[in-house]
Amino acid sequence: MTAGCDKIVKDKIAIDNPVFDNLVIDNPVFDGKRKLRVLVCVSGGGTNLQALIDAKKAGRLANTELVRVISNKADAYALERAEKAGIEGICVSPKNFADREAFHRAFLSAVEEAEPDLIVLAGFLVVLPAEMISRYRNRIINIHPSLIPSFCGKGFYGLKVHEEALARGVKVTGATVHFVDEGTDTGPIILQKPVAVQEGDTPESLQRRVMEEAEWVLLPKAIELIASGLVSVVEGRVLHGNLFKSG
Ligand code: GRF
Repeated sequence: MTAGCDKIVKDKIAIDNPVFDNLVIDNPVFDGKRKLRVLVCVSGGGTNLQALIDAKKAGRLANTELVRVISNKADAYALERAEKAGIEGICVSPKNFADREAFHRAFLSAVEEAEPDLIVLAGFLVVLPAEMISRYRNRIINIHPSLIPSFCGKGFYGLKVHEEALARGVKVTGATVHFVDEGTDTGPIILQKPVAVQEGDTPESLQRRVMEEAEWVLLPKAIELIASGLVSVVEGRVLHGNLFKSG
């Protein structure tokens, strides 16, 4: 047994003087014993997808595999990013189906085919079928460009979030990664990161800074925590080990 690890209790590993603190996690959403299969759903530019691709290239996200990218839009630049990175990218567009139900069926089967452990909504502007949310409970995460519960919910997406933050005059905004439940931006919060609003900010400049300083940092971190078996959800709240000492 490794020095410092004096007891192993069922699903729980207790380590004395750990390198990272708070490492004991009961019933994690993923046990970390194999590579986490990650499916990413996108609708647009895909800078958050790019952050994952870059993190992987840089040797982070070692315990994950980006298995597929699904876009609801055929011309989403995110699909090109996937192709360049050698990740399978497919488009499932509502335009190609007679009704919402048929689209949902096709979308769900494209999801299931990929056998994901985790589904990442990275700027995915489609309301998920209820069946999918219950089937993948605590296995779908979303990135939102504000500190939830501010500036979130129905209608808060894209530039609107930042316009409202500036209109309210907040001094701090940020981003949130959360699990997806039946509500809009109401699921358990995994990570948040603040970003200072600056004098003279426009919705565009604020959006860019929130992406650079918060979104692109948080999303890989959240996935890395989950992949390492360090995230669990208890009574609607996320408990996680502290893989990251700062930042
Ligand atoms: C991001 O601001 C994200 O927070 C929101 O949609 C935007 C997607 O941007 N959910 P991108 O497609 O990743 O560049």
